[in-house]
Amino acid sequence: MHTAHAPSHLILGQVLHFLSDPGEHDAPDSYQHFPDGALWVLDGQIAAVGPRAQVEAAIPPATRAHTRHHDYGQQLILPGLVDTHCHYPQSGIIASFGRQLLDWLNDYTFPAETAFADPAVANRSARYFVDRMLAHGTTTASVFSTVHAVSVDALMAEADQRRLRLLTGKVMMDRHAPPALCDTVASAERECVDLIERWHGKGRLRYCVTPRFAPTSTPAQLALAGALYQSRPDLHVQSHLAENLDEIAWVRALFPDSQDYLDVYARHGLLGPRSIYGHCIHLSPREIRQMADTGTAAAFCPTSNLFLGSGFFNHAAAVDAGIQVGLATDVGGGTSFSLIRSLDEAYKVSQVHRRPLPPLRAWYLATLGGARALYLDGHIGNFAPGKEADFVVLDPHATPELAFRLENGADLAQTLFALQTLGDERCVRATHILGECAYQRP
Ligand code: GUN
Ligand code: ZN
Repeated sequence: MHTAHAPSHLILGQVLHFLSDPGEHDAPDSYQHFPDGALWVLDGQIAAVGPRAQVEAAIPPATRAHTRHHDYGQQLILPGLVDTHCHYPQSGIIASFGRQLLDWLNDYTFPAETAFADPAVANRSARYFVDRMLAHGTTTASVFSTVHAVSVDALMAEADQRRLRLLTGKVMMDRHAPPALCDTVASAERECVDLIERWHGKGRLRYCVTPRFAPTSTPAQLALAGALYQSRPDLHVQSHLAENLDEIAWVRALFPDSQDYLDVYARHGLLGPRSIYGHCIHLSPREIRQMADTGTAAAFCPTSNLFLGSGFFNHAAAVDAGIQVGLATDVGGGTSFSLIRSLDEAYKVSQVHRRPLPPLRAWYLATLGGARALYLDGHIGNFAPGKEADFVVLDPHATPELAFRLENGADLAQTLFALQTLGDERCVRATHILGECAYQRP
């Protein structure tokens, strides 16, 4: 007989979540905001969301007795932030001076990634990375490991233990990288199949086929990546696209038969649902159309794009064209683990294009937008009943600068904008995974 109760949590606070993209004019039916709101979480899933009294009334009396209460007062409760592109093995080379993409890879990235052949290095970094994610309010990420299978094992095991919904995969790289970081078509196939068997679909994890980018894979290896992507339901793909002008010229020289950079991936079966490409800054109208038509998503990495001098992604134009876009830190090309800091930079980049990213759309981008770009919105991204209850508790008054700025009152959009512009992990009061508190600010 089954006597244990399913865990039940009642979370009180100022609840905000998105149902769709608010666009540039704050579409009123795109979000729900309950100033005196609540979430009821049963067995890790959202059972009810709404005004506090209504949610409390929805809890059956028999369940109420064993429901745990978390009272966050006036603090903001948002769905967990989604980092759609980052590299956990680069945590230790974040903030490395003075290079653009291709030199930065050779001088800093490749040497750092070489150390991940050692499981002890990988395990320690994986734990550090997941700790930082949660401290920054990020509950789901699509993460690059290194070429080493043990680097995937390390992050998958850590994420599984914390019950995170997370994607990662072994980087595939069989040319134009140091020998210690190169695999082959045959070894990549063997290791990917083995990792997929071990991790894909375990708990909340999924495997992500991860060719680093076109220049570091032979056509034969890109074809293998495309075949792997098609080989099992729900496999994902991640790579890089059109980040830097020298990179693009290199791709043109390496793949003279392809009409452009995206076409290289298209010819190898690497576009479609559950595929996402980092950066996508310098795209032709044809490439933009093909991304939209195939459901291929873009990861907007503003702190990285500014830090590496890569360029200014036009978020509004990409969305207008029908591309799914998520927000990303791109650690360690990016300069912060924080998607809050990333929104600050995203706004500044959007100003360059004279399409200022409005705050409601910005927080959609960091939550449901990211979940959609990763095709995980059936599971996460908002508080629709049945979704997995990952959420972040944000204190918009956490710093003196925020408190002073908001002293004379602010509406929701103004509060969100101040939070993204002035805020950081000091504003993350708590992070919950499947209803349970997984991080609490000391
Ligand atoms: N392109 C190929 N590899 C990388 C990487 O590690 N970081 C960034 N930003 N771009 C890349
Ligand atoms: Zn990247």
